[in-house]
Amino acid sequence: MISYKELGLVNTRAMFAKAVDGGYAIPAFNFNNMEQLQAIIMAAVETKSPVILQVSKGARNYANQTLLRYMAQGAVEYAKELGCAHPEIVLHLDHGDSFELCKSCIDMGFSSVMIDGSALPYDENVALTKKVVEYAHQYDVTVEGELGVLAGVEDEVAAEESHYTKPEEVIDFVTKTGVDSLAISIGTSHGAYKFTPEQCTVDPTTGRLVPPPLAFDVLEAIEKKLPGFPIVLHGSSSVPQEEVDTINANGGCLKAAVGIPEEQLRKAAKSAVCKINIDSDSRLAMTAAIRKTFAENPAEFDPRKYLGPARDNMKKLYIHKIVNVLGSNDKLIN
Ligand code: G3H
Ligand code: 13P
Ligand code: ZN
Repeated sequence: MISYKELGLVNTRAMFAKAVDGGYAIPAFNFNNMEQLQAIIMAAVETKSPVILQVSKGARNYANQTLLRYMAQGAVEYAKELGCAHPEIVLHLDHGDSFELCKSCIDMGFSSVMIDGSALPYDENVALTKKVVEYAHQYDVTVEGELGVLAGVEDEVAAEESHYTKPEEVIDFVTKTGVDSLAISIGTSHGAYKFTPEQCTVDPTTGRLVPPPLAFDVLEAIEKKLPGFPIVLHGSSSVPQEEVDTINANGGCLKAAVGIPEEQLRKAAKSAVCKINIDSDSRLAMTAAIRKTFAENPAEFDPRKYLGPARDNMKKLYIHKIVNVLGSNDKLIN
């Protein structure tokens, strides 16, 4: 059993309370490799932002769970080396799908876990989430649950259609399970294709697809039921069109990729939404930079020469999200 506290990590409790009060959201960035992690930490240190490092089940399978955990431990030391005396870094399991997976992460030093029982019948979701909370809280690890279903792929769980969270269920769910935060479904979804062209309108000046707005009425109803309770938004990439254009101009083929407009995320961040999950935008920033490098210099074969620009582009993206979308800059507690 390794305690996250020995690794210099923190759980989400204090940072969420401060974020809800302050009307901003903490960035939750997924990572699978060193360049992503470096870019996240550089961005968080430069902006003086708390940050959540998210590891999905797919990331564990790709990069090895032990290696990822040591990388997160290294990230704390790296942040200090970059000049942040008291970094606030959470190591979080994204979309945990079983008690055993959550327990294994807690036992190896994660400070926060998500148990995603959203695809289960309500009572089973409650029972599974409660079991994870009871174990996690013994070690002061915080737990995110989910109610409502996001369309698209949630790690290995795929849903054809989204089902908005039912505001009438949230008090019962939070009370029975004891979760520390709740992921809800209000129209976001995972990946770079969040809406079909049929669901969108077309902006006459730019010709770009404009997606339908998020269900802010559902969010407001949830906030009324649970005043001040930390709410989480998954599937919150905006799919920057300039990255999509760079990818397509350099041999890629991403057609009709569309995300959540940043002004809607800014609005959500000012409410009880205090954690915003972003993964796809980082993938796009990385891919765009790599494709551009190869197109401009087909003879290049030193990975540092294409992963370096990819890291720079991701860092730029993370800083933009922190400062212009989530508002978590200059919010370190110490
Ligand atoms: O919610 C899903 C995250 O973007 C993680 O994706 O399962 O492909 O690592 P992944
Ligand atoms: P995106 O695919 O919109 O980046 O969402 C990521 C996410 O929700 C991770 O849990
Ligand atoms: Zn997610």
